[in-house]
Amino acid sequence: MTEPPYWERFHPWTGAEPPRAWFRSSAPSLDLSGDWKFRWSPRADGPADFAEPSMDDRDWATLPVPSHWQLNGYGAPAYTNVRYPFPVDPPRVPTDNPTGDYRVTFSLPPGWPAGRTLLRFDGVDSCARVWLNGTELGVVSGSRLPAEFDVTDALSPPGQEDEQDNLLAVRVHQWSSGSYLEDQDMWWLSGIFRRVMLLSRPDGGVRDYFVHAGYDHHTGQGTLRVDVDADTPESARVTVPELGLDLAAGETVTIPAVDPWSAESPRLYRGTLTTPGETVPLQVGFRTVAIRDGILTVNGRRVLFRGVNRHEFDPDRGRAVTEPTMRQDVLLMKQHNINSVRASHYPPDPRFLDLCDEYGLYVIDECDLETHGFLGHSRQPVPDNPADQPDWRHALVSRMQRMVERDKNHASIVLWSLGNESGQGRNLAAMAGWARHRDPSRPLHYERDPTYRDVDVFSQMYTPHAEVERIGQGREAPLDDPELDARRRAMPFLLCEYGHAMGNGPGGLTEYQDLFDRYPRCQGGFVWEWIDHGLRTRDGRGEFYGYGGDFGEPLHDGNFVADGLLFPDRTPSPGLLEYATVIAPVRISRDGDRLRVANRYDFSGLSHLNFTWSAETEAETETETGAEGEPLATGTLTLPPVAPGESATVDLPAVPPAAGEVWLTVRAALAADHPWAPAGHEVAWAQFLIEKRSAPSAPPAPAADPAAGPEPVTVTATTVQLGPGRFDPATGTLTHLGPLSVAGPRLDVWRAPIDNERWFATEPHEVAWRELGLHRMEHRIAAVETGPDELVVRTRVAPAASRLGLFATYRWTATGDRLHLTVRVEPDGTWTLPLPRLGLRMAGPAGLDQVTWFGLGPGEAYRDSRRAVRVGRHRATVGELQTPYVFPQENGNRADVRWADITDASGSGLRVAGDPVIDLTVRRWTTEDLDAARHPHQLQPRDRLFINIDHAQHGLGTGSCGPAVLPAYRLLAEPVTFGLTFQPLPGRPPG
Ligand code: GAL
Repeated sequence: MTEPPYWERFHPWTGAEPPRAWFRSSAPSLDLSGDWKFRWSPRADGPADFAEPSMDDRDWATLPVPSHWQLNGYGAPAYTNVRYPFPVDPPRVPTDNPTGDYRVTFSLPPGWPAGRTLLRFDGVDSCARVWLNGTELGVVSGSRLPAEFDVTDALSPPGQEDEQDNLLAVRVHQWSSGSYLEDQDMWWLSGIFRRVMLLSRPDGGVRDYFVHAGYDHHTGQGTLRVDVDADTPESARVTVPELGLDLAAGETVTIPAVDPWSAESPRLYRGTLTTPGETVPLQVGFRTVAIRDGILTVNGRRVLFRGVNRHEFDPDRGRAVTEPTMRQDVLLMKQHNINSVRASHYPPDPRFLDLCDEYGLYVIDECDLETHGFLGHSRQPVPDNPADQPDWRHALVSRMQRMVERDKNHASIVLWSLGNESGQGRNLAAMAGWARHRDPSRPLHYERDPTYRDVDVFSQMYTPHAEVERIGQGREAPLDDPELDARRRAMPFLLCEYGHAMGNGPGGLTEYQDLFDRYPRCQGGFVWEWIDHGLRTRDGRGEFYGYGGDFGEPLHDGNFVADGLLFPDRTPSPGLLEYATVIAPVRISRDGDRLRVANRYDFSGLSHLNFTWSAETEAETETETGAEGEPLATGTLTLPPVAPGESATVDLPAVPPAAGEVWLTVRAALAADHPWAPAGHEVAWAQFLIEKRSAPSAPPAPAADPAAGPEPVTVTATTVQLGPGRFDPATGTLTHLGPLSVAGPRLDVWRAPIDNERWFATEPHEVAWRELGLHRMEHRIAAVETGPDELVVRTRVAPAASRLGLFATYRWTATGDRLHLTVRVEPDGTWTLPLPRLGLRMAGPAGLDQVTWFGLGPGEAYRDSRRAVRVGRHRATVGELQTPYVFPQENGNRADVRWADITDASGSGLRVAGDPVIDLTVRRWTTEDLDAARHPHQLQPRDRLFINIDHAQHGLGTGSCGPAVLPAYRLLAEPVTFGLTFQPLPGRPPG
């Protein structure tokens, strides 16, 4: 047997320093980021000639550091979820192992102190061998973990003649044994993707330190001890001037009163750790995490995780995220009521954790470990799984050590996670054992071992609502081992992943939140996931966000990589707006003639919020309600102090009477600027219908004469005329509405399948729907009957090859310029499948591109995702009504629309009104176009406008990974009658 190459050793780690905390200090550092010389090879075993300073690299290209080489023209990104993109033959990897050789020269700045110098890599994917000035320093792996080398002896001292007198050479392999441990659901991207720093470690400096800062919620006392590893620890001092503290390393002090740290109130006390050689700034957050009586507490109180799973991602830079991007993530989270992040599935850039400390986010810091490809979808132990194999133990434990040591001083980290989806095994136990010993102050998390024997919380992913409820009630199915069962039964429960945000959705978040509110044991969860990993790319038709398969990968998992609450460019999706509303920390409800305001924060009162109200009618320019956009009345609410978990009531504001619907909107907004949002930022809101007068909707269009009787039907050989409607006498199809040429409306049941119903979903309805033929329904005209003042069209709508069908009867009448339609639908045969949608589709002139509606808006909404939208008068262009899901699918529905005007710029067009409401989707392409497209830029406007007027649509659910649509939101094929009215709009006269 020949010795395996270093990148195939179970633990290729040689030469690096023991792990320690990542910190800034007074000692100088040098950021080596920049353009480095770069040479790419298709294999790993080329000569390491480039490590010699004398090597001539003038014809080498350059590559930015940090970056991924696949995003800079070398090789291509590849996406797989569970499967390894190479043969499972551990710890061996393919001979075709793309390798990047890097060279950079630098010189130490003048004044670089005597003492030691370390070279730190914050992230290199996946295995690196390092030389300085021709001296080999060692080999590291563990892509999202730091590695430090002592370069003191290899460095050229500062102040030499030659400017760039040091040559750092790094060889990075795409594949290594570590790749087996890094099977996270994300792009395979390689290279030096985080910063490389040179750190002076002055004589008498700090090697490492560990801040232990607790909070006693009974007494309000803080405790502080800072353990220091330094040349002369006895001379180390810790000061916190604000608290008048000056203590020795290892000394414990009790502070009679401190403001504790929490995500809601991230109080950090600034201090210093000083040794003779160095000063380290400290940010001390006093907080205690504990599990008491089966509840996870922070500072003695139950906390509810309103969380997200965050991968590091940028559509142009992959995981090489910049500090502004990290900050943007934190701000967006805070602005959307998110209070926690799971660092899925690896420790993030450490600067992100600084931001979590500062702005206030609870963090589950997760080790860079996933061996999913060994397990497939099995939940049984798998014999060769690295989580259980002794050969891998050292690699796994060292990964845990490197994470905990690096991140241990962050107040924001409340749980350590052993990794993700790595099955079960002794090595996980070893990781847990080490972490527990090193840091007893934080509970441990790991989801994939159903016994939870090594950890402290009961955590699952994608658990259906009913099962969460059983767990909340302590009625989960028992484990075989009574001791382990009793232990698990005493654990708090959280959903480390839920609400799979792939494409249009997630639906059903409200029902989860209700369970978290009802059962103290259920402490919330983390939506999967924060951002779509779509990589910006182009083809002949233009720019788009690429997903699996777009880069020529032979094996890939398609658009499963795009399942976030943010689009790749960080625009919030409708799903994020929904989530922000569902988890809002203030709940406002109506209690008769009182308003109830419930404080759902874990710690804060409500005094940082202003409560205001406004009453609005649907009228736009009615004289009694003032000018456009002006509310009927406004005011502020004065609340008594409301403690967390408590509620208060106040009188419902007095609203003057008005015609039509009057809606009261109550808003809770920041009273003053916060670091994460300015004063006025809305945290929570609610709406209540105050009054609905029978007075007609207040359309700006010419009103029909209320006294007008029904219009008569006029039949000729070529037309049937009824009020403003002209019909084809053979088919009974509406062809004109006043002057507008239209086609339809006729029954439509098809929608462009959403990710939650595609072939990989829990309920892959798309497959069954296509099999049945719902995308190719035929319309048989059974009868076109005219009466004196009505037109009745009887049809049967059904797919070829099936006996199932839907009888659809259209009954048309008119009054004045209004055309009324009542549709009766009756299923024929026994339907066992839900319908995608049930409504009407019509086409109109392409020049209509403005939509004004009274109903829910401004965003899209569906049956099981409609908390973020409000009743009001909204306006949008047809373009603005589209939601650009990375994988095109049904989108853009405006719900509970009372009426909508679809017009050109002059206001000419048509009005459609529901009886009482409709769902409305308007687009420039057909559902079939949307269904066929693979990327949004493939959708080309047609020469017609397509309007879907739905009675209802099937819900969204989160079936792409998790529970399907809840029973209440399914659209069953049942007898139904719905009505609507069309009216031509003449538009404003020119001038
Ligand atoms: C989970 C996994 C995540 C992601 C998700 C589906 O099983 O932990 O990494 O793959 O499913 O998007």
